[in-house]
Amino acid sequence: MKKVLVTGGAGFVGSFLCDRLIDEGHEVIAIDNFFTGSKTNLRQLESNPNFELIRHDIVEPLLLEVDWIFNLACPASPVHYQYNPIKTAKTNVMGALNMLGLAKRLNARILQASTSEVYGDPQVHPQPESYFGNVNPVGLRSCYDEGKRLAETLMMDYHRQSQVDVKIIRIFNTYGPRMHPDDGRVISNFIVAALKGEAITIHGDGLQSRSFCYVTELVDAMYRMMQTEDFTGPVNTGNPGEFTMIELAEKVLKMTNSSSKLIKTAARPDDPGRRRPDITLAKERLNWEPVITLEEGLRPTIEYFDELLKRA
Ligand SMILES: NC(=O)c1ccc[n+]([C@@H]2O[C@H](COP(=O)([O-])OP(=O)(O)OC[C@H]3O[C@@H](n4cnc5c(N)ncnc54)[C@H](O)[C@@H]3O)[C@@H](O)[C@H]2O)c1
Repeated sequence: MKKVLVTGGAGFVGSFLCDRLIDEGHEVIAIDNFFTGSKTNLRQLESNPNFELIRHDIVEPLLLEVDWIFNLACPASPVHYQYNPIKTAKTNVMGALNMLGLAKRLNARILQASTSEVYGDPQVHPQPESYFGNVNPVGLRSCYDEGKRLAETLMMDYHRQSQVDVKIIRIFNTYGPRMHPDDGRVISNFIVAALKGEAITIHGDGLQSRSFCYVTELVDAMYRMMQTEDFTGPVNTGNPGEFTMIELAEKVLKMTNSSSKLIKTAARPDDPGRRRPDITLAKERLNWEPVITLEEGLRPTIEYFDELLKRA
């Protein structure tokens, strides 16, 4: 049994990770500033004696005794990370520094939740970990993309210079229940619009592709990564199944029995044309490969949003 710190524990992915860690018998401390996360996501763990939730902003240092640190704190959707881009950059950089300082002091293992956004608008497809990316350093997404890139740099520098036991995973689009309904991400946008019978908006020609991983499968990869020895990563974690925005919209319309219309608007600046992980390394080193199909994962996600909208 380990003592585990999860930063961003009240968020979408963080809350599922806390569930898994508790199920595995660990003691969990979640910290969160509740910018995009909420206590509701952790209600099921509220009375568990092995679980504790602390309101804390990782831009500020923190002293705790733990064996493992999962560093997830950071808004993940463009609407939220662009709301206060300076704060996003601080969360990524100062947050990583604070957590690395803690890991160094405690001799704890630390896992950084990085992102496929470190590849920017990729010119190599699918993206292996060895690809350095094509990122705009001065664009609207840079606070997030470059913030995560620097967090990766800091992880590797602490590892080389101070022998901190670090792990880096690059997460590709993940979806599931507990996603924020207004976060502007494509899965939540499409489902909410379809359930409300409102038009589904597609940016650009709708032929841009994404791959979507169901949240419990991502959490499984994170847990496996944390347990590896002598492997820092970075390692891609995502589902290699690739869908265009039009294909996704059609699937959502069918599964919600919705008659919402599809409307096309201008493409978003710096919106990557294609994004699909090469997960050869994850298969080799983590013995991990997603098996949940998009339909299988969409079903509980649609149910979640349906309930949320009915309650509202
Ligand atoms: N969901 C995805 O598709 C995806 C893809 C790539 C990477 N990621 C990464 O995974 C992590 C979790 O993403 P998510 O989808 O759960 O997003 P989320 O927004 O639901 O969760 C992030 C959590 O971090 C908290 N937070 C933000 N800034 C903080 C700060 N300064 N101090 C303390 N807490 C703070 C938020 O309140 C929230 O609970 C993020 O680091 C994100 O970059 C997610």
